Amino acid sequence: MANLFDLTGRKALVTGGATGIGEGIALGLAAAGADVALTYRSHPPEATLAAIEALGRTGAAVRADFTGMDEAAATEVVGFATDALGGLDILVNNAGIIHREASVDMPLEDWRRVVSVNLDSVWLLSQAAGRHMVAQGRGKIIIVSSVLASQGGLMVPAYASSKHALVGLTRALCNEWAGRGVNVNSIAPGYTATDNTQALRDDPDRSKALLDRIPAGRFAEPSEMAGAAVFLASDAAGYCHGSVITVDGGWLAR
Ligand SMILES: NC(=O)c1ccc[n+]([C@@H]2O[C@H](COP(=O)([O-])OP(=O)(O)OC[C@H]3O[C@@H](n4cnc5c(N)ncnc54)[C@H](OP(=O)(O)O)[C@@H]3O)[C@@H](O)[C@H]2O)c1
Repeated sequence: MANLFDLTGRKALVTGGATGIGEGIALGLAAAGADVALTYRSHPPEATLAAIEALGRTGAAVRADFTGMDEAAATEVVGFATDALGGLDILVNNAGIIHREASVDMPLEDWRRVVSVNLDSVWLLSQAAGRHMVAQGRGKIIIVSSVLASQGGLMVPAYASSKHALVGLTRALCNEWAGRGVNVNSIAPGYTATDNTQALRDDPDRSKALLDRIPAGRFAEPSEMAGAAVFLASDAAGYCHGSVITVDGGWLAR
């Protein structure tokens, strides 16, 4: 039986692929055979590119800040990946930010910044990549949401709202593109040891409260999101459309 999870020759774009969960996913896709382009904003991509190339794959990186992204910028990012790799089969929308503040205090500009990076850019990049994938009759779009697509969280109203919206976007795009060869699905990570959760993990009380509630009893490593991404990017997930795969150590089961 052919290896259903083999990504040899596939071309992937991972946003925010130089650090955290994005890096874990980029390296997982490369280990499964894909060439990988990544975007970065502030984190130097050299080490991730070297790791991709050490796996025998082509790597490429472009600097892009998604705050206030417009259609031209999204087209440019997708065009970079397509040109650098010679095609595009997989888009992983991973880049995202969190802003913690009480709702009574939070300024509109912080709400807009989070929604711009976490939701607008995912829409724009999925649209740009989707045009290419629908035209070629195949493609995989993976949207990194969160367990906070199912819960409100604490003092992260823009983050929780944007992540709920990403699940809506996953389903909306699925309904349009499933019949045209493009699989659109989401991964909902639980609490993972990255910059995103640094403040929580540094706070002994919050950290203990979180760990006490996670059935697995620990935070995830970024590399632990790679399996779901490889699955959704592969032929093994050919009939998966509009799904949300939760990878959370049991958090939502609690
Ligand atoms: N960690 C968790 O517990 C957790 C749980 C559920 C969901 N998630 C989601 O997983 C995704 C990755 O987060 P992470 O945990 O790996 O955190 P992270 O290490 O902070 O990574 C965030 C990534 O997004 C990029 N990014 C941030 N702002 C950007 C902007 N304005 N324009 C372009 N790129 C930008 C960053 O690029 P630079 O580093 O180059 O600036 C970085 O690669 C996010 O969507 C997050 O919401 C995380």
